[in-house]
Order: sequence, then C-alpha cells, then structure tokens
Amino acid sequence: MTTPDNMQRIIQVAQGFYSRKDQAHDLEHALRVREWGKRIAQEEGGDSTVIELAALLHDIGRSGAVEKTHAESSAGLAVNILQKNGYSEDIVRRVKEAIISHSLEAGHKPISLEAKILYDADKLDFVGAIGLVRLFTLAGVQGWNLVGKNSCQEFYLEKICGYREHLFTKSAKTYFDPLFHYMEGFWQELHTERLKFS
Ligand SMILES: [Fe+2]
Ligand SMILES: [Fe+2]
Repeated sequence: MTTPDNMQRIIQVAQGFYSRKDQAHDLEHALRVREWGKRIAQEEGGDSTVIELAALLHDIGRSGAVEKTHAESSAGLAVNILQKNGYSEDIVRRVKEAIISHSLEAGHKPISLEAKILYDADKLDFVGAIGLVRLFTLAGVQGWNLVGKNSCQEFYLEKICGYREHLFTKSAKTYFDPLFHYMEGFWQELHTERLKFS
C-alpha cells in the first residue's frame, strides 16, 4: 500500500543517489518525469504507483553505473530500495521492468503500459524550454560546443529529433509536438544570429 509518506521516503532516498555534478539528470528531472507520467496515465491508464516509483528512481544509477547501462544499474538499485521499504514483489518487479527499458541502449523494449509511459515521460523532459536548459546543462558536463562535432546541436539532431517516432502513447505525442516546435524555433533563431557574426 503506497501512502504519500511512503512516496516522500522514496524521494528522500532517491535524492541521495542523484549526482550533483549532472544537473540534467538530477532529482528535479525525476520529479518532472513523475509529473509527466501521472499526466499521461490519467489519459492512457496504467498503475500510477508503479509509474511514480519508476519515474523517481529511473536515473539513480547514472553516477557510478555498475551494470552495462545506467538503466540496468538504476533498476538494480531500485529493487533494493523498494524491497527495503516494504513494497510487494509484484510492484518491485513492475518498477524494475519499467526502469530497465526506459533507455533503449540496453536492448530492452518497453512492454507494459507503465514501461511505455515512463519511456515517453522521460523523453518529454528533453523538449521545450526545459529540454533546452537540460541540453546546455549536459553540454557543460560533457564539454560540448554549441554546434559542430560533439555539440549540443549534434545531440539535438541525432537524439532529440528522433524521439517522436519512438513514443508509445498518443497523449505523449500530443504533448511533444508544441514543445518540439519551440525547440526548432530556437535553432533557427540561433543560426540567424550566428550568420550576423560570420
Ligand atoms: Fe535514463
Ligand atoms: Fe531520465
């Protein structure tokens, strides 16, 4: 049984794992993914406890990943945390499944509705004004330039521009479009301004 107190406890534990060095993947990101997840679930269904827990814990293994990918590391850590906090075997298994497939790099595809919603919610936090802020924050961590090789623009073109075709839920696509449109406008403006200096 999940109460608001239980969820607060999980937020506290999660906070300890999120690295202060990478503010693109911090607790604030996890909290926004939780909000997107709740919003999508209101329209698409799904178990909100599983979605909320998976959102809060989905990136906890990013710093000092011990498994092959950060999704697998996060899933392993999440299992320990949830077991210690008395969650049922069923909830633990479903949260683990969602977290492990939120990034396709590990080769696990989201199967359950909750996993699909977590996947979509995570991508929605990389578009719009928040997406741009996260992109530039990540650039600081990675040492990227604005444009060219190993740059913000390269990540935008190669990753973010491809997100929409992989979204699973209709509601996520509806939320995605105006936010992505805003981002596209930013890059157009940037190139217009850069021309003035060349
Ligand atoms: Fe992730
Ligand atoms: Fe994430």
